[in-house]
Amino acid sequence: MIKTLLSQVKEYKRASILTPFFMLLEVLAETLIVLLMGYIVDYGVKKGDINKILLLGGLMILAAGVSLWTGCLGASYGAKAAMGFGKNLRKGMFINIQNYSFANIDKYSTSGLITRLTTDVTNVQNAYMMILRMCMRAPASLVCAMGASFFINVKLASVYLIAVFILSSILAFIIYKATGYFRDAFLKYDDLNASVEENVSGIRVVKAYVREDFEISKFKKASVNIYNRLIKAENIVIFNSPVMMFTVYACILLISWLGAHIVVSGDLKTGALMSLLAYCMNILMSLMMLSFVFVMVSMSAASAKRIAEVINEKSTIKNPKEPVFVVKNGDIEFKEVFFKYNDKAEKPVLTDINIKIRSGETIGVIGGTGSSKTSFINLISRLYDTCEGEVFVGGKNVKDYDLKVLRDNVSVVLQKNVLFKGAILDNLRWGKKDATLEECMEVCKIACADEFIEKFPKKYETVIEQGGANVSGGQRQRLCIARALLKDPKILILDDSTSAVDTATDANIRKALRDKIKKTTKIIIAQRISSVMDADKIIVFKDGEINGFDTHENLLKNNEIYREVYEAQMSGAGDFDGIGGALNA
Ligand SMILES: Nc1ncnc2c1ncn2[C@@H]1O[C@H](COP(=O)(O)OP(=O)(O)OP(=O)(O)O)[C@@H](O)[C@H]1O
Ligand SMILES: [Mg+2]
Repeated sequence: MIKTLLSQVKEYKRASILTPFFMLLEVLAETLIVLLMGYIVDYGVKKGDINKILLLGGLMILAAGVSLWTGCLGASYGAKAAMGFGKNLRKGMFINIQNYSFANIDKYSTSGLITRLTTDVTNVQNAYMMILRMCMRAPASLVCAMGASFFINVKLASVYLIAVFILSSILAFIIYKATGYFRDAFLKYDDLNASVEENVSGIRVVKAYVREDFEISKFKKASVNIYNRLIKAENIVIFNSPVMMFTVYACILLISWLGAHIVVSGDLKTGALMSLLAYCMNILMSLMMLSFVFVMVSMSAASAKRIAEVINEKSTIKNPKEPVFVVKNGDIEFKEVFFKYNDKAEKPVLTDINIKIRSGETIGVIGGTGSSKTSFINLISRLYDTCEGEVFVGGKNVKDYDLKVLRDNVSVVLQKNVLFKGAILDNLRWGKKDATLEECMEVCKIACADEFIEKFPKKYETVIEQGGANVSGGQRQRLCIARALLKDPKILILDDSTSAVDTATDANIRKALRDKIKKTTKIIIAQRISSVMDADKIIVFKDGEINGFDTHENLLKNNEIYREVYEAQMSGAGDFDGIGGALNA
């Protein structure tokens, strides 16, 4: 995990090394200042030696200058290194997420990924800054101040040893208690983000079902969970300061009392006693800083682990070593294909699929909900890999193609499709980066999207809101079809992509597809038989198996399920699922 995270430091290595180096210089200068202060009192002020005062004072100013300069440099390099590290972590995760296959994405929740990209990175970034600045500074300051104290007076310096022992035991106890709560609190951020993410993305459904109160209480619960844990942790951490100050003042009192006796006996000079008292603060402050570092590191350990997980996640679908870059045609073949989403699942989602589709054919796919239609088409553009058997496109195994080439040639209008914020033209150009306006208009005509786009005042420059919120369901579907068409694919797959489109427009789209992209293999998943009955062949799915694969006429004659659904739909009674209840049994 540490290796994974450190590999993201990259260009901030120099700043990460310079920070502790400058912090060390700062500590050395600070220690010198205190030592010089004692000397000024003992050898300058007491003896009235103005030259010594000037010389030592000059040195003190120099040391103060060095301390200020190195302190500033250390802080600035520390900030640069930590912020840069955070930036690289976010970038590393984001880039890796882009490479995830659908199977990888299934593993993480959206909110979990958002927490990792935001809160977790902030935690690790802050801990990294603390480590860079304090891990050298605090022990160095402790050792230097302790060394200088022993150099001044061994007996009095021993008091600090005892104080360090007592204070570190108490701090260790406080940290032990607090970190558990902190760690818990940060894990609960997932619930909070899940609640916000789900609510915001589904706000329309929430309103339609008047579920605001339920959503508020869900959010409150997640929020209060975090609050309670943080309060518990903070209630323990607040003891840090009083315990520390108590120890400092106890030490000062003890040193003053013991020191006074030694000064009177003449074994210690007043200036040296002053220096000793100043070191008291340095020593105990260092301990305090170390304890903070410890709290932050253990708090961020869980975050670090979660970030490393995302960075280390290997895509389950990889480009082959020597990929094929040309898809010859739109032939599709499934050979003894079995598929499961989860290795541990008992029953496969697709069972023994054997099918041959010739380039240019129009294939309808029909079946009840959950009968594995989407799972079937997902294997063609290799959104998932088969568990057993192989899928061939253009005569070659899909696993042999370059992924980009395959997905450019197998254009899928996903069932859960989205548009992104931006002009209609920009959204369409996802299909082809450099498409001209004419090309875009051409595909919109095929997808019957031109009729409503022309009615918008800004036409193709109309801005689509996030998730396509300002267009209707049917309009969104038509834009998604147009976008897929722009790729000029060898295979076009429409996964229930006209479900929100009226029957007449649906027929127009199918006619345009048939006339305008003759050579393209078209796979059309639909619930309405009228949407697929004019296809060359129709696949009937039942429970993840192919129940029938034939023309409309033959299926009507030979396929019981198909005939029942057809008759029901033609008489206007019920849909595929209604009749096909048996399909899902
Ligand atoms: N990402 C996934 N992870 C795990 N199981 C899944 C996933 N997607 C679908 N399934 C399961 O696989 C089965 C087939 O689902 P699939 O989406 O292929 O059905 P479908 O025929 O497309 O249904 P619909 O008509 O509702 O779109 C279902 O039992 C479903 O629960
Ligand atoms: Mg589906």
